[in-house]
Amino acid sequence: MSSSDDEGSGEEYLFKVVIIGDSAVGKSNLLSRYARNEFNMHSKATIGVEFQTQSMDIDGKEVKAQIWDTAGQERFRAVTSAYYRGAVGALIVYDITRRTTFDSVGRWLEELNTHSDTTVARMLVGNKCDLENIRDVSVEEGKSLAEAEGLFFMETSALDSTNVKKAFEIVIREIY
Ligand code: GTP
Ligand code: MG
Repeated sequence: MSSSDDEGSGEEYLFKVVIIGDSAVGKSNLLSRYARNEFNMHSKATIGVEFQTQSMDIDGKEVKAQIWDTAGQERFRAVTSAYYRGAVGALIVYDITRRTTFDSVGRWLEELNTHSDTTVARMLVGNKCDLENIRDVSVEEGKSLAEAEGLFFMETSALDSTNVKKAFEIVIREIY
């Protein structure tokens, strides 16, 4: 195959990964922490859709993930089917300090299942694990939900960077 934008460094892979979950669970900050090592204490609710492309090296091959981030708030969401189209990985995020966001995981999984292939690599992410003192969902609860639904599981903190890279890279590695 010849194309003018081929960098000539061998094969490349581009995978689409989507981040979903209730508003304010930290989706945008997980992405900015992973892609730019940035965190914003006062980030605004996402309106519509944003994405970032991030490269990683797997077994000597350059793998690029196009990571999509959308609004948790229904009224700010764009066309749902377009968001999920072509996704091969998904992070389903809740906030360990707000049980309602954990209770919503089932609904997010339903939406994901409706709009994507069952082979999508899925990771359940309990974010804000830096806030142990106001934890509202135990690690065990997260783990057992993930087991029951056949998801990977990880607790993360976009604030102090705990497991952020790991969570994305486990999903991307699984796809690859
Ligand atoms: P929507 O765009 O509305 O769907 O929200 P979102 O899921 O993108 O949440 P966002 O990343 O904007 O974060 C919401 C709030 O939580 C912000 O004030 C962040 O600073 C804060 N936040 C995000 N991640 C963490 C974290 O790991 N720890 C702590 N303590 N705060 C966090
Ligand atoms: Mg956001």
